[in-house]
Amino acid sequence: MTAVPDTAAPFVGSAISRSDFSAICTLLYDVAGIKLNDGKEGLVVSRLGKRIREIGLDGFKSYVNRVRDDPHEMREMIDRLTTNKTSFFRESAHFDLLRKTVLPSWGDRPITIWSAGCSSGEEPYTLATVLCDHAQGGTPNGRILATDLSHRVLAKAKEGSYPIDGIRDIPGPTLNRHFERVQDASGERFVARSHLRQLIKFGKLNLMEEWPLRGPFDAIFCRNVMIYFDRDTQERLVQRFSKLLAPDGYLFIGHSETLHSLTHDLRYVAPAAYAKGPA
Ligand SMILES: C[S@@+](CC[C@H](N)C(=O)[O-])C[C@H]1O[C@@H](n2cnc3c(N)ncnc32)[C@H](O)[C@@H]1O
Repeated sequence: MTAVPDTAAPFVGSAISRSDFSAICTLLYDVAGIKLNDGKEGLVVSRLGKRIREIGLDGFKSYVNRVRDDPHEMREMIDRLTTNKTSFFRESAHFDLLRKTVLPSWGDRPITIWSAGCSSGEEPYTLATVLCDHAQGGTPNGRILATDLSHRVLAKAKEGSYPIDGIRDIPGPTLNRHFERVQDASGERFVARSHLRQLIKFGKLNLMEEWPLRGPFDAIFCRNVMIYFDRDTQERLVQRFSKLLAPDGYLFIGHSETLHSLTHDLRYVAPAAYAKGPA
């Protein structure tokens, strides 16, 4: 679709009616499970207002109609309304636990890890560095599936190229071993080396839909994703994750998330880390 310059666009408003806000919330919830609460009108206006101007519509009502009729625009809307904040070694205690306790407990067997809601790739690439370092120069006996709902972040993840601001949390020696420094028109960038990339398979997957996955997974990382879902959706999701875990598998969630009020069969092992089998 051709972008219309802002100045030529008929839509200049910064307000959204209650019914248009509620229609957008319903669409987002039905498709992505994401619950936008009252008070998030400003977020919707700032993230979608620009899009409405780009495609030359006259306001939110027309935009809601367009999204209902056009799967491409639905995808755009979801891409713009998801929060994709992430970083390398985010909530690093999980990677310490993996390195020191979990990986040694699995011995030499081949392992599969799922990064569900991987955003722009920092989480699966971090996991890949941990697997590589655990293999001590050998080939890691593992692979990582990394999925997200958003096309925009998945494209970045597949590129695996990060600006200097993005790699600040990677310890120097880890950075040197696993990333190549390149200079391009946009400045200095750090590109995941092929030995990391070949461990990861990226794919689009909406956690609200059927999963074309058989498992079992030795670990599932679904961190800082469920926070956007309501309680029932979280519970369904955790129960589905549990079914796909190996008997001694682990589920990692975000540190600001909890399984506390949900019905599930997992065992708490550390903050935001749960195991499937008995201790
Ligand atoms: C805040 S990021 C978290 C990234 C990473 N897991 C971390 O902790 O740094 C949340 C990600 O969940 C994705 N997401 C939200 N709803 C989803 C859904 N229904 N299915 C799949 N991914 C979803 C978003 O697109 C976003 O990239």
